[in-house]
Amino acid sequence: MTHASAPGKIILFGEHAVVYGRPALAVPVTQVHADVEVTDSPRAGIWVHAPEVNLHAELASLPSDHPLASVLHNFFFAFGISPFPSLNIAISSTIPVASGLGSGAAVTVALVRALSAHFDTSMTDEQVNAFAYEIEKLHHGTPSGIDNTVIAYARPVYFIKDRPIETFSAGRPFTLLIADTGIPAPTKESVGDLRKLWQADQTRWEKVFDQVEVISKQAKEKIERGQIDSLGELMNQNHALLQEMTVSSPELDRLVEAARRSGASGAKMSGGGRGGNMIAIVEQEQAAAVAEALKSAGAKRTIATTVA
Ligand code: PMV
Repeated sequence: MTHASAPGKIILFGEHAVVYGRPALAVPVTQVHADVEVTDSPRAGIWVHAPEVNLHAELASLPSDHPLASVLHNFFFAFGISPFPSLNIAISSTIPVASGLGSGAAVTVALVRALSAHFDTSMTDEQVNAFAYEIEKLHHGTPSGIDNTVIAYARPVYFIKDRPIETFSAGRPFTLLIADTGIPAPTKESVGDLRKLWQADQTRWEKVFDQVEVISKQAKEKIERGQIDSLGELMNQNHALLQEMTVSSPELDRLVEAARRSGASGAKMSGGGRGGNMIAIVEQEQAAAVAEALKSAGAKRTIATTVA
């Protein structure tokens, strides 16, 4: 039996603009994770069990564009494993789906690592990342690659599309509260809608993305220098630009407001938007009160995570 696990992730700054070549910052969230176990099966076929999504199926019965089928086919093809072996694959995940926490990329990374261990193919983080990016492209249209990168390396990343990975670390640890609207929202849609706006007026949107770039660069510097006090204001500015991009939602805005009113120094939506999660930056001693305010404002759950 082989087992592998991959964390969730959250984007701190720069989502959407990152699709257009601007930098973004994201960190792994180890409080949630995807786990995969691979065992040899006594019965023929590749049996995939993912109880959270009510999936118990043989690979051959899944549509070929099913995310898990794509991972398995690509893996066997890449390593010339033929005929297909008989396997049981158990997948579980505590990462909510379509909520900006990278559930798809985490399942892919954990599955590839568990398969790689099972078949002794010893893949590097770079190879796992490249593999996961191909899968993201199949399902998300034009992903920047930030999800697979943060999750495959499990480190804070200052990400620019098509550039070598650059990590960062915090000069002083800080606490983030992540709050879920409970509304699943496919990233593909908000990315697609923004693309239409951009196609209609590139000059306007490129300027907006430039403003996000300034924020992401400043945020990286402040985080590295441990100047945490000024991050909240940068989050607020980034949220306003995401609202302008039409990717926020009334529910996200309500949570952002509630966090600010209850003592967070700043807050913003995170990820694709229109639903999913938001983040707030808090002092540790305020975390409980802000979490309570977020729940009263409709959050389905909150996670506190420390960026170190
Ligand atoms: O919804 P998430 O967290 O998977 O984030 C998507 C981030 C976007 O910038 C909106 C899209 C992308 O591919 O980077």
